[in-house]
Amino acid sequence: MDKKIFVTQPLLPALSDLNKELEQIWKEKRVTNAGPRHNLLEEKLKEVLGVRNVSLFNNGTIALLTALKALDLPYGSEVITTPFTFAATPHCISWNGLKPVFCDIEPETMCIDPDKIERAVTPNTSAILAVHVYGFPCNVEKIQKIADKYNLKVIYDGAHVFSTKLNGIDIGNFGDITMFSFHATKLFTTIEGGCLAYGNDNLVRKIYNLRNFGIRGEEVVEDIGINGKMNEIQASVGLLNLDLYEAEQEKRRVLRKYYDTRLKDIKGIRIPKMPENTTDSCQYYPIIIEDDFKISRDDLYSRLREKDIYARKYFYPLCSDYDCYRELPSSLPANLPVANDMKMRVLCLPFYGSLEEAEREKICSEIIRK
Ligand SMILES: Cc1ncc(COP(=O)(O)O)c(C=O)c1O
Repeated sequence: MDKKIFVTQPLLPALSDLNKELEQIWKEKRVTNAGPRHNLLEEKLKEVLGVRNVSLFNNGTIALLTALKALDLPYGSEVITTPFTFAATPHCISWNGLKPVFCDIEPETMCIDPDKIERAVTPNTSAILAVHVYGFPCNVEKIQKIADKYNLKVIYDGAHVFSTKLNGIDIGNFGDITMFSFHATKLFTTIEGGCLAYGNDNLVRKIYNLRNFGIRGEEVVEDIGINGKMNEIQASVGLLNLDLYEAEQEKRRVLRKYYDTRLKDIKGIRIPKMPENTTDSCQYYPIIIEDDFKISRDDLYSRLREKDIYARKYFYPLCSDYDCYRELPSSLPANLPVANDMKMRVLCLPFYGSLEEAEREKICSEIIRK
């Protein structure tokens, strides 16, 4: 057993099932532009995500870009966000001609700290873009209170929270719009893909237009849109994976229990706990390396790599460390002490249903060994 163990593996439908779909698509010759599979997946996702409106996209980044555009935030205004996220989050703010303002995170959930948001609000603030990191939910109540007080829009990057419920409510129902990513690394995947979930029916037409160059009819262009369309092959993968993702979650729950049991009493390892009011999407298994662990996070990362175990330091570096953002006043490490601490401690372990027993044993033994 010397194959490389990556942090995740894509959940792929049986090739024979996909082939049947492809044969049908080839017969119909309807391959993109809101085809039948695309429309069916949108309908099914409304049920699965428990939200009123779903708009599919060719990837989560274009979806998020479009969400910010659809809310008509004043050009040049400030959007408060977290540095502890994937590059797409602040990049979507910047590509919209808006300014990212980084706010520190909470040590438990690693999501934006609502108690620090208010001090980042200025007369030029138009929105809060928060991320439900690793499936941990943001403090949606506090965030909404601040947004209501200052009349701000709230957008959630929900790339990590497919199928999560918070206090029994589907997580896509908070804020103005939530983006879900269906990238191959995500629990539910269309290989590349994503969607926006939102309650406001008035946004349906706007988002539809923005996703398709603003085109409304053969001779009508209503908006300055982009090409965000999901094609029929992606939608087929999605429809097939809708039947598979729950079984995958179940396998990951077993793996989670195994990791928990093996690692929970190891000195210097902290396993962040999902709050009791939240159902876990099962997309990541992060551990936190405390000062009293025998080696640093980076040394552990290297030790695992030597054994072909590719754990990931999500999110190191912080977005506020990137060359394109480090000069922002809000990027100063003194403004982001928790995020700067966590970026040196977190390690996401391989986490997917087909991880073999011998592999999970190897991972834990390597972590535990003196
Ligand atoms: C937090 C976060 N936001 C945004 C994205 C971008 O999504 P996509 O890859 O579908 O464009 C990802 C992952 O890929 C992510 O992890």
